[in-house]
Amino acid sequence: MIRKTENYFILETKNTQYILEIDAENKLVQNYYGAKINDYIPNRSHVCSFFCVEKNEKSDEGKNIEYPTFGHTDFRTPAFSCELPDGSCVTDFEYSDYKILDKKRSLEIMPCARSGGESLIITLKCKNAPIRIELMYAVYEDCDVIVKNAAIFADGEDILIDTAFSQSLSLSPEYDNVCYLAGAWARERHVQHQKLGYGIFEIGEARGTSGHNLNPFFALYKNGATETCGEVIGVNLIYSGSHAAKIETDRFGGVRALNGINPFNFRKKLNKGEKFETPEAVLTYSAQGFGKMSRNFHDFINEYIIPAKWAKKERPVLINNWEATYFSFTEEKLLEIARMAKELGIELFVLDDGWFGKRDLDNCSLGDWTPHLKKLPKGIDGIADKVLEKGMKFGLWFEPEMISEDSDLFRAHPDWAIVTDNLTPSKGRCQLVLDLTRSDVQDFIVSVFDRYLVGGKISYVKWDMNRYLSDVPRKGYCHEYTLGLYSVLNRIFKKYPDVLFEGCSGGGGRFDLGMLCYFPQIWTSDDTDAVERLKIQNGTSFAYPLSCMSAHVTITPNHQTGRVCDMDTRFAVACFGVFGYELDLAKEPEREKIKTQIEFYKQIKEITLQGDFYRLSDGNVFSFQAVSKDKSESAVLFVKQLSVPNVIEKAVRLQGLKEDSIYFVNGSGVSFSGADLMNRGFTPEFAQGDYKAQLLVLKEKKEK
Ligand code: DGJ
Repeated sequence: MIRKTENYFILETKNTQYILEIDAENKLVQNYYGAKINDYIPNRSHVCSFFCVEKNEKSDEGKNIEYPTFGHTDFRTPAFSCELPDGSCVTDFEYSDYKILDKKRSLEIMPCARSGGESLIITLKCKNAPIRIELMYAVYEDCDVIVKNAAIFADGEDILIDTAFSQSLSLSPEYDNVCYLAGAWARERHVQHQKLGYGIFEIGEARGTSGHNLNPFFALYKNGATETCGEVIGVNLIYSGSHAAKIETDRFGGVRALNGINPFNFRKKLNKGEKFETPEAVLTYSAQGFGKMSRNFHDFINEYIIPAKWAKKERPVLINNWEATYFSFTEEKLLEIARMAKELGIELFVLDDGWFGKRDLDNCSLGDWTPHLKKLPKGIDGIADKVLEKGMKFGLWFEPEMISEDSDLFRAHPDWAIVTDNLTPSKGRCQLVLDLTRSDVQDFIVSVFDRYLVGGKISYVKWDMNRYLSDVPRKGYCHEYTLGLYSVLNRIFKKYPDVLFEGCSGGGGRFDLGMLCYFPQIWTSDDTDAVERLKIQNGTSFAYPLSCMSAHVTITPNHQTGRVCDMDTRFAVACFGVFGYELDLAKEPEREKIKTQIEFYKQIKEITLQGDFYRLSDGNVFSFQAVSKDKSESAVLFVKQLSVPNVIEKAVRLQGLKEDSIYFVNGSGVSFSGADLMNRGFTPEFAQGDYKAQLLVLKEKKEK
């Protein structure tokens, strides 16, 4: 709900309020964000003026300016800065007007959240130049989420924008801790905590994609916040390009948190009459720690981000040939895997990299999307037909944004690759990136999908992207590239809404809300080691639901770590995600277990993918729990990492159950009350040895 009373705007969700104020100097300031304080709102302007440098001086420095701009009396990090035609960079904005809309509008080019109800548009006008800023706020009441962004209008003259963050958040000094997700290839999204002090703390990527290293998500929290208690504000961004979040603790201790397009190497010329939209930022406040923050994000993403068609639709259990064969396969070998997979209950066969051009290694053929006839004599149609005949679905891997130097495409269109004249082309994984800002390149990519998807034989596509952008030709190019990508995706997804697309970027290198607006699921990491995956899936769950995290059972010893883990543990971890296999079934000694695993997965997938998720512990014993929305069923995972002799395992307290209900464990006669499981806890029993797992399915006893 959104209201205006006197000089306040009150945005309300189920448990939170976000309050804006037009102050005595006609500035839009942030009055409050947190748990509801009802309608008795103290005026904050007088508090702010206390901070003025000199008593008789008018300054914005101590004010919680809602969308701070550069150059006048606010000396902190601005959300917006631009160069005016006379070379000056000074702007000063004041409140102009507002409107409340029944729905949230969509962005023109970029992906954005679907509307969940009302939105508010507040217009700010620049006092010294013909520039207008529209701030948009949308409320998502049930999941306690607020979506914000800013749009800049050059009303009277051309301007050069240097910085245009999506939003700015002003918090009190108690929010002096930040949690964020950091990593690298095969180590994505490990949870980090950092104490904030005076100065600027920054996370971001300037590599053209949201990246493996620093995910756009972060959370600010007060001391003592845990999984179950304490105040936490989570922030994310619906964007897949170079992004940044800057958190400034000012000299008075106040905290300003900005996020959006990375201003580094950014510039946008806005011609007179043009508009520039920033990506949408997503905010949620939780008074019950990180767990509730994550569940708010999960509900929001499942309901308003993931394409509606796929949000609740069953995802097929798949087998992918990558770790089974890498580039070295024949049609016969693939069909052997598909045949065995079908017998075990697997529903979709995915042919990964190496099916096109003359690609036997990663050094050639990207862009030549014609079948590798030595491996697939009857082409893609040939193998697809045979897989479909077996009663399975067929899926295919592409890396559409790339071009190999050794490819017919490069020989025909060398100018399509992003390179710098007079410099040796800088390659990543032996490849170059296509210039997605060009309309002929965009048309080419769309035509590739037309060629393969029109026939209807392919029901799943894995869209990979295995390097970052370098040698970008101008400031602002990374954003232009991202818009080019979105434009291609918009065209393809509109044409083929029934095809399930999975995102991928060297594992989980582009795991963000922008991609999730198109791809209902994303390959979480190339690291398929069950123990490493605990950290990766745990971190990813801070910001993203299980319904979008792909997780596969692979062979042991694991290809990324060399670790030996038994089949039960590999399965237990993978089944807390969108599940599949990636191994050579002909060589898998425990193949028969797969049938039972798939039956088990089908029993819990509604709970894990659509229910409420709880992180119960992350020490030597990792435990995750999912609870169905009606609380009648729950799936619980315990994984012991290292074996410790001669100790009693600690009980793990479950969450989210009905206190008064009785729950049966794993279909047996063993039962516990919800209160018992949540207060005393459940003591896992592990087999002897390292890396052992236990899985529970709890079902509520029904009254007769
Ligand atoms: C990186 C992906 O993450 C892998 O799953 C696989 O598809 C390879 N690329 C193929 O080159």
